[in-house]
Amino acid sequence: MTDDLHALRAETEAALAAASDLRAWDAVRVGVLGKQGRLTGLLKELGRVAPEGRRERGAQLNVLKDELATLIEARRVELDAAALDARLAGERMDVSLPPLPHPHGLVHPISRTMEEMAAIFGAMGFTVGEGLDIETDWFNFSALNIPAHHPARADHDTFYLPGERDGRPLLLRTQTSDVQIISMLQTPPPLRVIAPGRTYRADHDATHSPMFHQCEGLVIDRDITLGHLKGCLTDFLRAFFGIADLPMRFRSSYFPFTEPSMEVDIGWNRRTGELGGGGDWLEILGSGMVHPRVLANCGLDPREWQGFAFGMGVERVAMLKHGIPDLRPFFEGDLRWLRHYGASPLAPASLHEGIAP
Ligand code: DAH
Repeated sequence: MTDDLHALRAETEAALAAASDLRAWDAVRVGVLGKQGRLTGLLKELGRVAPEGRRERGAQLNVLKDELATLIEARRVELDAAALDARLAGERMDVSLPPLPHPHGLVHPISRTMEEMAAIFGAMGFTVGEGLDIETDWFNFSALNIPAHHPARADHDTFYLPGERDGRPLLLRTQTSDVQIISMLQTPPPLRVIAPGRTYRADHDATHSPMFHQCEGLVIDRDITLGHLKGCLTDFLRAFFGIADLPMRFRSSYFPFTEPSMEVDIGWNRRTGELGGGGDWLEILGSGMVHPRVLANCGLDPREWQGFAFGMGVERVAMLKHGIPDLRPFFEGDLRWLRHYGASPLAPASLHEGIAP
């Protein structure tokens, strides 16, 4: 190889070594192999070389061209790897660092209990209905067959509010039974609705709070009997308390909006508070067949439609299920209590195993 070719190789090697990034590398490549590059220029001049030396010169140039192309490509691979290393180093993350403390919230036992109710009744085909905290006395009482001056009105220690709607006095609803009326007026039967929500009564001690929660249930269809009521509530209570053979007693009772009416008792041990056995009875909810007058108040013909309804206290069943002795801390916001009785938001409330849809 002639001196000029040696020199070109040496200079190209030096220039490649000096090129510290892809942009500089590309300038070297273009300067040697590009259209105006030095090696390209030498190839173009080949025609002017004397015929006796042309063949050898041509062969040497081709060998050099291959060598240079290999050197240039090798440097590109090196620079690519270096660029990747630099990027990785820049994005390096120290996975050994402990995470920042990030306290997660817990689901309040009231919310959790209502979620569990919705999961169980949802598996039985119920939807969740809603009412308003501020209602008229028609939805809360009259439509439910509790006319003015009916003694049941006095039992409820109602908070009346100033003002009226539709010419009726306003109050804080004392029961979620108003959602029975709302549901029947809004949706044509058949109906399966539960309505968990806030209720209010002027009462305050260890077992009563002026604001508390109830969950109402309503089923309306053409052939509904007491048997459906018993089956539905039996399935619910056994799933909710997680006791497959929970003893249950349906005891005749009175509510103005159902006829006949029944209170439901579950078996427990009064002394230990344990649910299930023990031989004692604990009243847990009210229920009954929807009174024909309530159906008629909602525009349904009682000869065509029947149904059952039930209502229970959310705090009450939550206290029994989790062994919570006092009602008041439910609403006091004491973090120690909430951490103890709160439920993980990551654990879904799917308590409906064993319920046939
Ligand atoms: N609303 C009743 C109460 O607050 C509970 C109740 C009883 C609801 C019987 C019902 C029912 O739907 O059928 O005491």
